[in-house]
Amino acid sequence: MNDISLHRKGCVVPSFKKELLPQHIAIVMDGNGRWANERSLPRTEGHKVGESVLLDVIAGGLEVGVKEISAFAFSTENWKRSPAEVRFIMGFSRDVLARQRDILHEWGVKVRWIGRKPRLWETVLHQLKEAEELTKNNTRMTFNLAINYGGRAEIADAAQQIANDVTLGVLKTSDIDESTISRYLYAPFMNDVDLFIRTGGEQRTSNFLMWESAYAEFFFSEKLWPDFTREDLWEACEAYMCRDRRFGGAVDKVVSHS
Ligand code: FPP
Repeated sequence: MNDISLHRKGCVVPSFKKELLPQHIAIVMDGNGRWANERSLPRTEGHKVGESVLLDVIAGGLEVGVKEISAFAFSTENWKRSPAEVRFIMGFSRDVLARQRDILHEWGVKVRWIGRKPRLWETVLHQLKEAEELTKNNTRMTFNLAINYGGRAEIADAAQQIANDVTLGVLKTSDIDESTISRYLYAPFMNDVDLFIRTGGEQRTSNFLMWESAYAEFFFSEKLWPDFTREDLWEACEAYMCRDRRFGGAVDKVVSHS
């Protein structure tokens, strides 16, 4: 499934001001199962279409200059799905990485895995490491792929490591602050999420990048993930650029009625 091109023929790329664009976009690719079932297909067929949509969206991000995209492929809670679907998603993740790492590399994308090791298939881990190694010097965009990831798990794992380092005397309890916690997360140099997109009509974050999304702007799309396109990503960017981000600050904007 390597028929995705960086520039789609006939597609007019908007020219967004770089300084207004979201730097980091997080995506919950929801709706694959429903998309497939609506077509009398098994849920797994929706995941298969989701692969090319993901590539299209990364290409669309590159075209307008987005620097970081994080995608939620499998959560620590997804183990509750049927054994057949879990097996499919694991094998599929392994194959997507093997299939797409060269094209991502060609596009200048650095691939990074975020998630927990326990339970994750060794073959998936192996492909993740291969993709990370191949693309480690790329700088055009960072693509964080979340597999066996949970936001609470990430914070709990960081707390455990921080406690270990305090015990070892590497870290002083009095030195622990927000930046310390950031350093102990799965991807210590990840930018905060600016724009958080969820497809599939649900309006929740499902434990994705909890710490990193503290001040993210949210964009919920009714479209199911297999129907999402790079144009939809650009629409979300446009909506983001109209938002007033205050990060807790406030200024008087007194309306004059005279
Ligand atoms: C959520 O839809 C989707 C997933 C849990 C899997 C996401 C995987 C892909 C988009 C394919 C790309 C994969 C990789 C490894 C990059 P859902 O199954 O929850 O759909 P539903 O809400 O309709 O049930």
